[in-house]
Amino acid sequence: MDGNGRWATSRGKSRSEGHREGARAIDRLMDASLELGLSNISLYAFSTENWKRPITEIRSIFNLLIEFIETRLDTIHERGIRIHHSGSRKRLNRKVLDKIDFAVDKTKKNKKLTVNFCLNYGSRDELLKAAQEVFLQRKRDQVLFEKPLKEKELEKFLYTSTLPPVDLLIRTAGEQRLSNFLLWQSAYAELYFTDILWPDFDKKSLVESLQWYETRTRKFGGLENG
Ligand code: IPE
Ligand code: MG
Repeated sequence: MDGNGRWATSRGKSRSEGHREGARAIDRLMDASLELGLSNISLYAFSTENWKRPITEIRSIFNLLIEFIETRLDTIHERGIRIHHSGSRKRLNRKVLDKIDFAVDKTKKNKKLTVNFCLNYGSRDELLKAAQEVFLQRKRDQVLFEKPLKEKELEKFLYTSTLPPVDLLIRTAGEQRLSNFLLWQSAYAELYFTDILWPDFDKKSLVESLQWYETRTRKFGGLENG
């Protein structure tokens, strides 16, 4: 979800107003996803590298997140949306963790749409943590080096273990990079880049990206005809 800052600056507004408008775009995206029948969406809200930003901006992003959960959770729940969190709990303060945990717990049985908030998320951090946990689990089971490591064994320890791999990855605001986002999960994702700034991303933008996705032939390393 890139471009909140540029959206604000170009209008003479503060960056935090850009993030607020970005949250409205999340509302629209959830509505559109339900209408279009998508079953999983992941949102890159705050990366393990975003801590490099000024503390005032970090605070405004987390305050917005708390406000987002407080004001939207009931409608999210009523509409059958499951909230999922991907990311490290380290460095997140108690208030933020409590809000996230509450939202995740309240919506855990919902089936219509899963919205995966990637918050304090970084793929490298996730893969290091998963490797560490594989090691600890094998140590407990006393099978440390007995069998080669398989994909499934590692995937159990990813934040996304209950989610399918990424089919379509959308990056807004004209940048063409992954920025440490779902690297393992996007191994065969179709990559869609648009100049639209995140706060301007709407149902029409989503439909356009899905129409583009429909034109792709997915081969997963195989040949076109299977
Ligand atoms: C993305 O918008 C949102 C977050 C990282 C929370 P940016 O804040 O990166 O916006 P630009 O890149 O400065 O326009
Ligand atoms: Mg940016």
